[in-house]
Amino acid sequence: MPTILVLNGPNLNLLGQREPHLYGAETLADVEALCTRKAAAEGFKTRFHQSNREYELIDWIHAARGATVGIVINPAAFTHTSVAILDALNAYEGPVVEVHVSNVHKREAFRHHSFVSGRADAVIAGAGIQGYGFAVERVAHLARQKKAP
Ligand code: DQA
Repeated sequence: MPTILVLNGPNLNLLGQREPHLYGAETLADVEALCTRKAAAEGFKTRFHQSNREYELIDWIHAARGATVGIVINPAAFTHTSVAILDALNAYEGPVVEVHVSNVHKREAFRHHSFVSGRADAVIAGAGIQGYGFAVERVAHLARQKKAP
């Protein structure tokens, strides 16, 4: 089965405990279960990771080259700071969908800019953890389109 990589940046391990008024009550384990279920319904499997370390996210993107059909990424705070994650994604050949649980555009001005959006095929923000499900569906769709002659 083709694999979709789902990556989560810093502090997302605290989903469900951290600022629930912004990020909701669901946990990262709930996000993983949702992604697995959505991907399976589309005929894909997922590789799911979270890290608080920028280099680990970059290493996982590198490892995804030639081994996965697309990436769903919530870079969390690295969204707004990381040229290195953008560069890693630019070296990746498949579709990329950026997800944010909260609507970053409704929040502080420093969250309005994303380095990753310049590479992403789609950006989903403010749909709660449901956004990950939409992102998996979109990546599956784009991956299928890419494969078609
Ligand atoms: C976030 C939004 C970011 O601005 C923030 O730093 C996060 C989570 C989101 O999912 O809404 O950690 O990516």
